[in-house]
Formats: sequence, structure tokens, C-alpha cells
Amino acid sequence: MVVCSVLRRTILAAARNDRVKGLVARAPVSRSVVARFVAGEEADDAVRAARELEQDGLTVTLDRLGEDVLDAGQATDTVKAYCELLHRLSAEGLTAGGRCEVSVKLTAVGQAIDEALAVDGARTICEAARDAGTTVTLDMEDHTTTDSTLGILRQLREDFPSTGAVLQSYLRRTEGDCRDLAHAGSRVRLCKGAYKEPETVAFQTATEVDRSYVRCMKVLFAGEGYPMLATHDPRLIAVAEQLGAGRASDSWEFQMLYGIRPNEQRRLVQEGRTVRVYVPYGDEWYGYLMRRLAERPANLAFFARALVTRS
Ligand code: FDA
Repeated sequence: MVVCSVLRRTILAAARNDRVKGLVARAPVSRSVVARFVAGEEADDAVRAARELEQDGLTVTLDRLGEDVLDAGQATDTVKAYCELLHRLSAEGLTAGGRCEVSVKLTAVGQAIDEALAVDGARTICEAARDAGTTVTLDMEDHTTTDSTLGILRQLREDFPSTGAVLQSYLRRTEGDCRDLAHAGSRVRLCKGAYKEPETVAFQTATEVDRSYVRCMKVLFAGEGYPMLATHDPRLIAVAEQLGAGRASDSWEFQMLYGIRPNEQRRLVQEGRTVRVYVPYGDEWYGYLMRRLAERPANLAFFARALVTRS
């Protein structure tokens, strides 16, 4: 516990230090870590990654890195960048039938400044996605944002019913949220959850989180929505295959992160599954990786493991 908190403080201090940032960003090992988990810094890199993944039979969701924005101008720039990206993807024929969509963090478009700003920004991105023939999924951030994010989701779905939700099985409330969202037309990504959360709201052990994930999957599969199972966990993938066996193969999908278990992603495609790869891009990768590592030291093991295996 003490080691974790010292590690967290050290990583967060390093994340804020420009000299450390320069050293990390230039180190050859960082370049390989970033290249493995992030498509690149520019929209061109995102488009290239999407094209390559689609050629391998995978579908894609693109995330422009950035979060916790406290400057309204920066939030507007993010919205503009998403719209331009969607336009590019459409022009390249990558969005047809929703094969390439986008994932948006509401704090990147102003949720922490003013909820109305985030709603406007998300709505503009949803319009651009609809024009491009594809969809938007709202990423889920820490538990203090859950009610606001689900409220914004409800508003967006009035005009853009295919907007996707994300629920995190580590939250005690999530089985109930799955019940609320397991209706026809509702796209729901289920993940374990990536933030450091208190015991009052979240399960703390891996076993509890996994059991909750299975309960939530059962609720989603029993409903009429479109479950999107975001996990690299072989046991949960096997349970999903069993639960999904009675459903049409195009009525649910697996999702995994760019660079994590790429061979498994392709194996599932060979078996006839839909697999969507979550591809982050942009120049905010340093803060993103460092915060994820600091928040939850288990994330360090997660990325380290992916570096030594492609399975
Ligand atoms: P976990 O990390 O618990 O690993 C379980 C097991 O999987 C391991 O024991 C091992 O067997 C296997 N495994 C994992 N990595 C491996 C590797 N590289 N090689 C071989 N085996 C490996 N979170 C969030 O809070 N909000 C969000 O919006 C999202 N969005 C999101 C989208 C997508 C598409 C994904 C895949 C994930 C997210 N997440 C997220 C992150 C998510 O909450 C979670 O932190 C990570 O996916 C890690 O959890 P896993 O379920 O993959 O298993």
C-alpha cells in the first residue's frame, strides 16, 4: 500500500516535470512503447492505422488523446479535430457501415468546465459521425463523472440513438446500469474499469470485478441491445463466446486495445467474430500513459506484459 502510494506520487511528479518529459519522450524505449500502444501523433497516423486494421478484417474505434480539459478553447479544438478526422475517414471509405467509429471522453470536450459545453461538443461530433455514416461511443471516466456521462448519453441518444455507452464492471452500480441500458438499439461497451476508485463505490479485488463482469455480460446478452465486450481476459472471452453462442454473430462484438493481444484479435476474426480495436492517437500520449500508470499500478503490469507478448 505504502509502496503503491510512493510509486503513484513519484510517477505523477515525473508526469509534471518538463525535463523528465523530454527525457522520456526521446528515450528509444519510450518510442517503442508509444508506437506499440498509440497510432501516432497526427490524424494521418490514425487514418493509416485504421486502414491497416480494416485490411486485417478488424473494425476500429479511434480516440484522440486528451482529457480533463479546463480551457474552453482547447475543448473546442478537440471537437474540431474529431470532425475533421471523421471527414477524412469518410473520404477514404473507412467509416462505411460503422467499420471505423470514434470514442470520445467528455472531459476532453469540456465536461469539467460546463456540462452544456460538453453536450454541444459531443452533439457536433455525433452530427459529423452521422454524416460519415458511423457512430460515436462515450468513454467512461472516473466514478464522479458517471451520472453526468449517462445523463449526456440519454440526451444524445434522442437524436443519435446509436451513440454507444461504456460501463465499468468494477463499479457496484454497474449491473443495474446494464439493466437500464440493455434495450433494443443500445450499444454498450463493458470493460473492467481503469481508474483508482474507492471501496464505497467499487469492488477492490480482481475476483469481485471479474464476477461482476460475468453478471453484467449475462444481463447484456439477455437483453436486446448490442453488447461490446472490451477485455483481453481469456476467461471472460470464453464466457462471452458461450453466452453469445445463441445470438446472431452480428448482434455483439469484442473490443481490445491497439497493441494488446494482436494475435488474439486476429484469431477471433478468423473464427467469424467482430473485433473492434480501440486506437488512441495524438500528442497527449505522455500524460495519458503516466496518469494511467500512476492511478493504478496494475496498469504498469498490463502494459509491460503486452510489450513482451503478442498472444
Ligand atoms: P486484465 O488487465 O484484468 O487482464 C486479465 C487477463 O487478461 C490477464 O490475467 C491475462 O490472462 C490476460 N491478458 C491481459 N493482457 C494480456 C497481454 N498483453 N497478453 C496476454 N494476456 C493478457 N476503461 C475505462 O475505465 N473506461 C473506458 O472507457 C475504457 N474503454 C476501453 C475500451 C476498450 C476497447 C478496452 C479493451 C478497454 C477499455 N478500458 C476502459 C480499459 C479497461 O477498463 C481495463 O482497464 C483494461 O482493458 C484491462 O482489463 P482487461 O479486461 O483487459 O483484463
